[in-house]
Amino acid sequence: MIKEILQKNQLSKEDIIHLLNIDNESDMKLLVDKAYEVKENYIGKKSYYRGLIELSNVCVKDCYYCGIRKSDNNVQRFNMTKDEIMQMAKWAYENNYASIVLQSGERADEQFVSFIEDVIKTINEMSNNGLGITLSLGEQSYETYKKWFAAGSHRYLLRIETTNENLYKNLHPSDELHNFNDRLQCLKHLREVGYQVGTGVMIGLPNQTTEDLANDILFYEKMDIDMIGMGPYIVSKDTPMGVDVINKNLNTTEMQKERVNLALKMIAVTRIYLKDVNIAATTALQSLDGLGREKGLKAGANILMPIITLEEYRAKYQLYDNKPCIEDNSDKCKVCLTGRVKSVGETVGFGERGDSPHFEKRIKIS
Ligand code: 5AD
Repeated sequence: MIKEILQKNQLSKEDIIHLLNIDNESDMKLLVDKAYEVKENYIGKKSYYRGLIELSNVCVKDCYYCGIRKSDNNVQRFNMTKDEIMQMAKWAYENNYASIVLQSGERADEQFVSFIEDVIKTINEMSNNGLGITLSLGEQSYETYKKWFAAGSHRYLLRIETTNENLYKNLHPSDELHNFNDRLQCLKHLREVGYQVGTGVMIGLPNQTTEDLANDILFYEKMDIDMIGMGPYIVSKDTPMGVDVINKNLNTTEMQKERVNLALKMIAVTRIYLKDVNIAATTALQSLDGLGREKGLKAGANILMPIITLEEYRAKYQLYDNKPCIEDNSDKCKVCLTGRVKSVGETVGFGERGDSPHFEKRIKIS
């Protein structure tokens, strides 16, 4: 059955659900091998780095699952200075990372918007436009997206988190700051402005079905998404959702393993279905499974986001519990991750931006 589905040129929604429901190792191997074959054809055996700079954990949002949500008074908040951010960007540039991601808690005030604009410009000056700049700074106005694009950033990650609106409501407070349709509108704006657009979901959320996840993949297609970052949901103990999941005994080792497997199936099916997009093997995968990132690459992912945040801030930027690499520094992360890539027989595209082939094709056509 699985073999037949994998031979098809075009998968239906039912096929996708079937693949996401795989529950034995031999079928899993068939799925992952097929995904890897597609990756080899469309991307090659190469992974690209995006040095991740977590520049602030100050956040106006209160998402029920997230470890840096506004209402968590135990989080020690920080804002990096421009000099600190430049120090990390310089490190990435000198280490041939070719791309960085600026990520932070969400803020949309004027001071923040112009700070980011200035940082983007200065990074481009420092690197002679030699660093790809991806932003992961949440929901912003159309004007802000335009401003940051004009300043010289060209990719943007904004996860939809789940495309099931009811589920979305369970994950977020019901107020104007956490509105599903606004988030959707942001993704449309990002496309309009000209960014390479990335989105993604959390996998293994309470009450999330494989049909929901199949709809997520169809959503990526419908939105013509260029980059995908998705990973397992991981409990953050200080959050309302984390408390609830633990109380309901929904966080056993077995269930965590299940979430990792589901995440790997999502990566594999997304690779098979969308073929030429960039897909990240996320840190979250590694949090629940020591070899999670390697498994992600084997399942069709081609992007890694080594953390290059200065050591002193790493532990303060924990979206979920047991985040790996918080005791490390950028040099260690480089050696460690490059070893992981080698271990699966791939090379790192040092010095190459590794833009989404899907985006490049789309630009050529339009
Ligand atoms: N588990 C997994 N992923 C999480 N994120 C936030 N909190 C968690 C969690 N508890 C993800 C969200 C967000 C991204 C930056 O981190 O998907 O978009």
